[in-house]
Amino acid sequence: MISCILKTKTKILIAFLFALTVSFGAYAQGGSEQAEVAKEGVVPGATQGADAGGSSADPAVVDAGATLFKNNCAVCHSAGSDVVVGPGLQGVTERRSEAWLLKWIKNSQALIQSGDADAVAVYNQFNKQAMPSFAFSDDEVKSILAYVQSGQGAAAAAPAPAEGVEGATPGENVGTEAIGAVGNYLDIVLVVLIVVLIVLVVTLLLITSLLKNYLNKNRQLDEYDSEVVNQRFDFSKIYKSKAVRTLVVLIFVVVLLDLTIDKVMGIGIQQGYQPKQPIAFSHKLHAGDHQINCNYCHTTVYKGKSASIPSANICMNCHSQIKKESPEIQKIYRAIERNKPIEWVRIHNLPDLAYFNHSQHTQVGGVECQTCHGPIQEMEVVSQYAPLTMGWCIDCHRETPLNTEGNAYYDNLVKLHEQSSKGAFTVASNGGAECSKCHY
Ligand code: HEC
Ligand code: HEC
Ligand code: HEC
Ligand code: HEC
Ligand code: HEC
Ligand code: HEC
Repeated sequence: MISCILKTKTKILIAFLFALTVSFGAYAQGGSEQAEVAKEGVVPGATQGADAGGSSADPAVVDAGATLFKNNCAVCHSAGSDVVVGPGLQGVTERRSEAWLLKWIKNSQALIQSGDADAVAVYNQFNKQAMPSFAFSDDEVKSILAYVQSGQGAAAAAPAPAEGVEGATPGENVGTEAIGAVGNYLDIVLVVLIVVLIVLVVTLLLITSLLKNYLNKNRQLDEYDSEVVNQRFDFSKIYKSKAVRTLVVLIFVVVLLDLTIDKVMGIGIQQGYQPKQPIAFSHKLHAGDHQINCNYCHTTVYKGKSASIPSANICMNCHSQIKKESPEIQKIYRAIERNKPIEWVRIHNLPDLAYFNHSQHTQVGGVECQTCHGPIQEMEVVSQYAPLTMGWCIDCHRETPLNTEGNAYYDNLVKLHEQSSKGAFTVASNGGAECSKCHY
């Protein structure tokens, strides 16, 4: 009789514990993932206040220039003569004309490509590190130059660059902390629940042993009951228990279903796919705020089939100097020390049966990156913007007129097309919808 009660009790207890463990496991994973995502999030845009005082030029202009300089240039330049990433800017207004400086600061790459001798020389001297472009008005650039010329920055030259680098850290993580707090909160709840669980188990064990003692001392037990009461914990019972078996089968089925659904989805469309990357690299910060050209990092996007993902060395062009102390940047250093590439998670991936060539679209076709990849320059974390299906490719080929102007190769083709059809001479009319163009 007692044995019967005890048996059902153990069963219930075991089933209960098992269910708890499983749901906690799932919960713990969710919680820590969230916490990690929160940690990885980067909130850029640290602003540092200006602290420059008055000056001999127009103090208001110099002040405005000081603020602009600190927020935009100080990560790479000192206003004195020290080299940070780029040259110290002291005396630059004597070295270069104002017109030159205006062009350079707004878009140094354009000036270099125009073949300007000074621009090419300084670019080569600094190992071809591209300075980002700045969408400033002439007045804004002039105010920065006025600040540089005033010599105020030069006086504080030594501490200035360091301040630029370190000063950015504290103010910056406000948003991250807010998300982080949620992650931490979940962690705390989780720990509390686990502690409660442990206390529960211990209490139950205590009660059992008390009961056991009581039964042994105060009751006349027959042989069988005494055996049941004093039995050791028996694992084969768990194994044989129906409840446990059903649970295990159930979990197995659920996991299997989940995996197959993932697989099926994986074959088809991955629009919106946004995996977590090993380093919290932000396109918004680099391509947006700092306006670094896409092909500074994706070096083959205008010349080759693939766009390529930058190696750690490209990061080091800047990060050998910028934000060295950041834990995220430390990850780049570690990758280089270990001589292992950073393991970025691939986002866009066509199946092997389809051929896609970047240079054909970016260089020849003149299609903007954003048409296919969306507003990358606003993304903290890249996600797949387009469906990348065959229908998507062909729709665009049907709608997009070919850029044939000034290309003698197309003259005859366009004439032939105009004779046979009234529609525009699109990519598709040039064969861009033929199976063999994309499949071979
Ligand atoms: C990410 C780093 C970076 C930032 C930010 C940056 N620069 Fe530069 N700058 C450089 C580098 C590197 C060079 C050297 C030339 C080259 O490699 O392109 C340079 C060169 C220059 C030069 C030419 C100096 C000379 O001797 O001819 C000027 C002027 C200049 N920068 C002004 C600015 C101003 C003004 C700002 C802020 C609005 C700024 N830079 C922001 C990296 C940067
Ligand atoms: C400072 C370097 C840098 C610049 C500038 C940059 N990228 Fe990237 N890009 C990366 C890195 C690193 C990755 C891989 C990590 C990631 O996905 O965020 C990447 C990933 C991508 C991906 C996803 C690749 C995949 O796995 O499918 C696309 C698309 C992309 N970049 C487009 C752009 C476009 C468009 C621009 C210009 C507006 C740009 N990038 C500017 C460094 C850069
Ligand atoms: C042309 C210069 C340049 C290149 C190349 C570059 N970065 Fe940056 N990066 C910057 C600047 C400027 C900042 C902003 C620093 C600040 O906020 O003070 C930055 C910030 C960052 C941050 C945020 C650091 C933090 O803790 O706030 C990360 C992470 C980062 N970069 C990763 C990378 C990776 C990875 C690469 C290579 C794929 C790369 N960067 C290439 C200029 C560059
Ligand atoms: C016509 C659409 C289109 C345009 C325009 C385009 N891409 Fe892509 N991009 C794709 C497709 C499709 C893939 C997936 C290619 C694959 O899996 O083989 C891709 C993949 C990438 C990747 C991942 C690495 C690779 O090469 O597979 C990067 C990085 C990238 N693109 C950057 C860029 C940049 C930067 C530009 C602009 C200069 C650009 N793309 C313009 C369609 C486009
Ligand atoms: C946003 C519009 C757009 C999308 C999306 C697009 N393409 Fe294109 N594609 C073009 C243009 C424009 C050209 C013509 C380039 C030129 O002038 O030769 C082109 C040309 C081509 C060509 C060469 C055709 C020929 O006649 O030689 C191939 C192959 C191609 N695309 C494959 C693809 C594949 C594969 C995809 C989908 C993954 C894709 N394209 C998506 C616009 C697009
Ligand atoms: C402009 C480029 C382009 C052209 C033209 C094109 N395809 Fe495709 N095709 C693709 C891409 C990209 C995929 C992969 C799409 C995906 O993964 O969803 C694909 C996938 C396929 C698949 C595999 C479908 C699947 O679900 O896996 C078949 C079969 C196929 N194409 C047949 C054809 C035939 C037949 C033609 C000629 C009538 C053709 N394609 C023309 C780009 C093209």
